[in-house]
Amino acid sequence: MSRIAYVNGRYIPHSQASVHVEDRGYQFADGIYEVVMVLNGQPIDYDGHLKRLYNSLKLIKIKANFSEASLRIIIARMIRLNHLVNGTIYVQVTRGVARRDHKFPTASQPAIVMTAKLLASMPSPSQKGVAAITVADERWARRDIKTIQLLPNCLAKQEAAEKGAFEAILVMPDGSVSEGSSSNVWLVTDKGELVTRKANENILNGITRQSVQRIAGMHQLKVSERTFDVAEMLNAREVFITSATSIVTAVTKIDDTVISDGEIGVVSAALREDYIQHAHGGVL
Ligand SMILES: Cc1ncc(COP(=O)(O)O)c(C=O)c1O
Repeated sequence: MSRIAYVNGRYIPHSQASVHVEDRGYQFADGIYEVVMVLNGQPIDYDGHLKRLYNSLKLIKIKANFSEASLRIIIARMIRLNHLVNGTIYVQVTRGVARRDHKFPTASQPAIVMTAKLLASMPSPSQKGVAAITVADERWARRDIKTIQLLPNCLAKQEAAEKGAFEAILVMPDGSVSEGSSSNVWLVTDKGELVTRKANENILNGITRQSVQRIAGMHQLKVSERTFDVAEMLNAREVFITSATSIVTAVTKIDDTVISDGEIGVVSAALREDYIQHAHGGVL
């Protein structure tokens, strides 16, 4: 079965899908994206991802020429055409195709592309802990906008991969941890406090992060939204990351430090299990 991509109104075999060389996404990274997890054929945290997509468009001043209802129809069709049971849908919107010029074009329409990726199996409630490294956060100042301008994130993730780690945890010049290269970072302190950084312009406010906050609330677990530095993170009882694709994943080693005893902590295990359960139950 061949994969199908969506490009500006057309459903095309993935291998033939392409955009124009003067697409501003290609030339200026002038666009935004979303990644939505699909479990059992159903998009998870769907409203949150679509809401953030429109907000990202607004923040970079792209006027959407499609309604949310039409987006939902296209995504449903992509899920069907790709026989996507478990996987992800990637949605990218750029300012469109125009003769190269930094200023916004006056005539072009936003360009929209979607691809589907199949997961070999359903994410399991049990998990393996992953290793991470710390890397200087060298991104621009508006990390709250999910733009396709991801070079610093790619460089950080590559460095992690070269060191045998799964994620790069980004550290700001003031020594505070911002987030992962493609995830939000959480910790459980030795006093049992559940901490994640406050969402402002310094981090992407993960949709999974927001759901995990709600799930923690259902368990009367208070979430402290505050900054923390590398030393506090390395001394934490648990560290975990959240994202649409990693859900809740325990981090058991950072640089050369084993977190706690190297085992997956009870809080991250429970939050992952609950997230998957809520996703199955159609709650997210
Ligand atoms: C930099 C960054 N932070 C956080 C996240 C997590 O966001 P979400 O939970 O919406 O996937 C991502 C996801 O790609 C990301 O790229």
